[in-house]
Amino acid sequence: MTGPTKADSAGNPAAQGATTCKVALLGFGTVGSSVAKILCERSNAHLRLTHVLNRNVERKKVDWLPADVRWTENIEDVLASDTEIVVEVMGGLQPSGDWIRRALAAGKSVVTANKQLIAQHGPELTLLAAQKNQQIQFGASVAGGVPVISGLHEGLAGDELFKIQGILNGTCNYILSQIEASGVPFATALREAQKLGFAEADPSEDVEGLDARAKLAILARVGLRCYVAPASILARSIAAVDVVDFEYANQLGCTIRQISWAELTQESKAGSHNATRNDATESDASNDDKIFAAVQPALVELSSPLARVEGSKNMLIATGKYGGETVFGGHGAGGHPTAVAIVSDILGIARARRGECSYSGHPIEKKPSVTNDFSAKHYLRFLVKDRPGIIASLATILAQSGINIDAVVQKPGCPKSHLPFLITLEECKASHVEEALGKINALDFLVQPCLHLPIL
Ligand SMILES: NC(=O)c1ccc[n+]([C@@H]2O[C@H](COP(=O)([O-])OP(=O)(O)OC[C@H]3O[C@@H](n4cnc5c(N)ncnc54)[C@H](OP(=O)(O)O)[C@@H]3O)[C@@H](O)[C@H]2O)c1
Repeated sequence: MTGPTKADSAGNPAAQGATTCKVALLGFGTVGSSVAKILCERSNAHLRLTHVLNRNVERKKVDWLPADVRWTENIEDVLASDTEIVVEVMGGLQPSGDWIRRALAAGKSVVTANKQLIAQHGPELTLLAAQKNQQIQFGASVAGGVPVISGLHEGLAGDELFKIQGILNGTCNYILSQIEASGVPFATALREAQKLGFAEADPSEDVEGLDARAKLAILARVGLRCYVAPASILARSIAAVDVVDFEYANQLGCTIRQISWAELTQESKAGSHNATRNDATESDASNDDKIFAAVQPALVELSSPLARVEGSKNMLIATGKYGGETVFGGHGAGGHPTAVAIVSDILGIARARRGECSYSGHPIEKKPSVTNDFSAKHYLRFLVKDRPGIIASLATILAQSGINIDAVVQKPGCPKSHLPFLITLEECKASHVEEALGKINALDFLVQPCLHLPIL
């Protein structure tokens, strides 16, 4: 690893006998420009911005950066320089992936906010960094400014975490809390989120759960030390959640949030029961590690901290064998909060380069098989053309899958042609509910497919 460089005579750090670390930025958009601002405004941080790379860079130039910062469109300028840390904030898998590999190969450490890249290629990039005696840090890739990565990796390193559960997508949380607070349908809440810049023009990554499942894969690696391929994580859309679902959820003492959830379980080879890792004993040696992982809208009790996450904020609850629950919360996105996470990573690398602290990567200890099946109470909301015998038909199909009904709830005064009503189920496996819904959704009195949410 190359050592840090002394500051030049004009810089304060040199006057204090400190050292500066040179930093290049790839991407000068929302996050990149905020990182540049912090690097320029923060005093005594011993960091110096050397390059800003962006395509069509002329239109990006600003007058508030020092004149000696080099603006470029050419990655070779950065790679050939003596810059020590490359910050990738362009997004996308390519060319970001290749440029990060080349920066590591050129003896530079890397900081990135790129969740899709880290979720898919993180282990390979960490290995490459270690081979080159460099670091790759990605604290901003999950929950923006909330320090969940360092919190799990360092703050809770003494525990044995077995569950992480949280709200990792601010767009979905904004949309769901808007439907709840204003009683507007999903499409209106989405349009508002887009107008306010909380949702992309194409919102499918967020709404369908793909963004959150990339983050969950990263958290499983950092917190549970497990490799989980993002594509193996169940992702269900929030698009079918309606105003009436919040009314029914409230009657049950709950609200609805998009919940990302990964939990290590030990399933006996006989398959007779599921036990959380907390219950495991040393005599469980014959058991196989499994991980349950899913991103889906779910009912959460109003007393849960997750129910109180409003707007575009994020929250993560990590549960460990020894320390119990630890809650992280705050701004999950936005230029400045995300830039704070990036600058924190840069400072961590700079400290390690000065020998003030050591660096350990994110070792993967397990490759458990991924399951989408779990046991919970379930919420089934139907929209039907009313006629006699509907409940009897549904109860028959549910009974065929071994499922017990807990309650039937119907709002008074709804039109017979579009009648919404709710069935809650006693605790049962999600796979049994899916099996029953396969038959139920073919019934001719349904106006739309049944909305199925777990009750956490
Ligand atoms: N924004 C957030 O709140 C947030 C939160 C957490 C993580 N992140 C992550 O941070 C990264 C950056 O997000 P952002 O919101 O800052 O995006 P952004 O505003 O779109 O900025 C990306 C910048 O990179 C430039 N760029 C993209 N591809 C390039 C290429 N091939 N060559 C050169 N320049 C290129 C873009 O140039 P153009 O102007 O030409 O497009 C733009 O200036 C993403 O990985 C994102 O997922 C963002």
